[in-house]
Amino acid sequence: MTPEEAGLVFVTPEAYADEERFHAACAVLRREDPIHLVEHPDFAPFHVITKHADVHEIEVHHQEWHNAPKPVLANLEADRRREEQGDLLRTLIHMDEPDHRTYRNVTADWFLPKNLALLEGRLAELARLSVDRMAELGGECDFARDIAMQYPLQVILAILGLPESDYPRMLQLTQELFGAADEELGRGASLEDLVQVINDFFVYFTALTEERRATPTSDLASTIANARIGDDPMGIMETISYYVIVATAGHDTTSSALAGGMQALIEHPDQLARLQADPSLLATAADEIIRWVTPVKHFMRSCTTPYELRGHRFEPGDQVLMSYPSANRDEEVFDDPFRFDVGRSPNKHLAFGFGVHYCLGAMLARMEIKAVLTELLPRLRSIELAGEPELMKTLFVGGLKRLPVRYELA
Ligand code: HEM
Repeated sequence: MTPEEAGLVFVTPEAYADEERFHAACAVLRREDPIHLVEHPDFAPFHVITKHADVHEIEVHHQEWHNAPKPVLANLEADRRREEQGDLLRTLIHMDEPDHRTYRNVTADWFLPKNLALLEGRLAELARLSVDRMAELGGECDFARDIAMQYPLQVILAILGLPESDYPRMLQLTQELFGAADEELGRGASLEDLVQVINDFFVYFTALTEERRATPTSDLASTIANARIGDDPMGIMETISYYVIVATAGHDTTSSALAGGMQALIEHPDQLARLQADPSLLATAADEIIRWVTPVKHFMRSCTTPYELRGHRFEPGDQVLMSYPSANRDEEVFDDPFRFDVGRSPNKHLAFGFGVHYCLGAMLARMEIKAVLTELLPRLRSIELAGEPELMKTLFVGGLKRLPVRYELA
C-alpha cells in the first residue's frame, strides 16, 4: 500500500469498518509519511497526523492549533454550508480560549472524582440490571445492541435527569447523529438528513430547558439550563449544544468501548481468565480496552500561526486530522502495540485526547466499564462468538454495531 492509498482511509467510512485495512494503512503512514497530505475531490486538503508524539504536541499547543472553525472532518458541501449559515451546534469542541474555559467550567464540577464517586451505587445498579438482562435473553444475545448500547445511555440520561420513557428516542437520535455514514444507523447520508436530526435535538432540548428553568432540580440538565455566562443566562444555542454533547459524547463512545472490550476479551481468553482471577486489574483493563478500541477516531485542528512539526512547516489556516487509533498503536510508545494486555502499564493512550479539551467524561467512562465488568465477570462461566462481529462505517466516532455472543451465566 502506498502512502497515497493509505491516506484515503481517513475519508472512507468503510475503511474504519475493516480494522485490518485501517491499521495497515496507519502503519504505512507512521513509517513512511507520518504527516501526510490527503487530497480528495470531496474534501478540503488536510494533513493526517499519525504519530503519538505529534498528536500530543498539537493538543498541548492549543493557542497555535485551534478547534475552530472545523473540529471534525466535514466534506466540501458541509464546509460551504458552515461558511454560509454558521455552525449547526456550538459545543465545547467548537470553542477555543477564552470561551472554552468559561463554558467548560459550567459543568466541570459535575465530573470531578468526588462528585462522580456519588454515582457509583447507581452505576453498579444499572450494571446489575444489564447482566440480569443478559440472563433473561437466555444465553445468546447481540452484546453490542442489547447491552453495550443501552448501559451508557441509561447512565448519562440518569445523570442528566431525563425520564426513562425518553431513552429510546435519545438512543435513536444519538445513533442517527454519529451513525450518519452507516446506512443501517443513519437517517440518510445527506446533509439535509443531518440537519433534520440536529433539529430534532433542538426541539427536544428546548422543551427541557424551559422545564428546568421553571422548576430547577439537582440534576445536570438543571445545571445546564440555569447556567450563567458572566451576568447573562447561557445562550440558547450553547445551552442546547451542551445537552447534545453530553448526551452524545457520553454514549456512543462508551458503548463502543464496552462492545469492543467484550470482543477483545472473547478473542483473548487468557486475558479474560487473568482478569476474572485478579479483579485488581480492572483499572488497567479499562484503559487497555479504551486504547484497544479508541472509539473517537479523530479530531481536527486548524493552524493559527506558522508552526514547524517533524520538519514540516504549517501555515495559518492549514488543517490537520489527529488520528487517535493510529497514535494508540504507535510502536515508538507502546510495547507490542497490537497485543491486548489487561495489565498494560504504563498506558499513555490518547483515546481521551490531551490538554485543555481532554475528555470531560474520561473518569465516568472508566467507571462505567469497570462497573459492567465488575458485575459481569464473576457471573460469567463461558462466552464465545455466535456470529461475525460487525463494525459501523464512520469517519468520527464508532465501533461494533453487532456482536453476537453465546454465554453461560452463573
Ligand atoms: C470511552 C469513552 C470516551 C472516549 C473515548 C471519549 C473521547 C473523547 C475525546 C477524544 C475528546 C476530545 C479531546 C481532545 O480534543 O483533546 C472528548 C471530549 C469530550 N468528551 Fe469524551 N469520550 C468518552 C466518554 C465521554 C463521556 C462518558 C462523557 C460524558 C459526558 C464525555 C464528554 C466529553 C465532552 C463534554 C468533551 C468535550 C471537552 C472539551 O472540548 O473541553 N466523553 N472525549
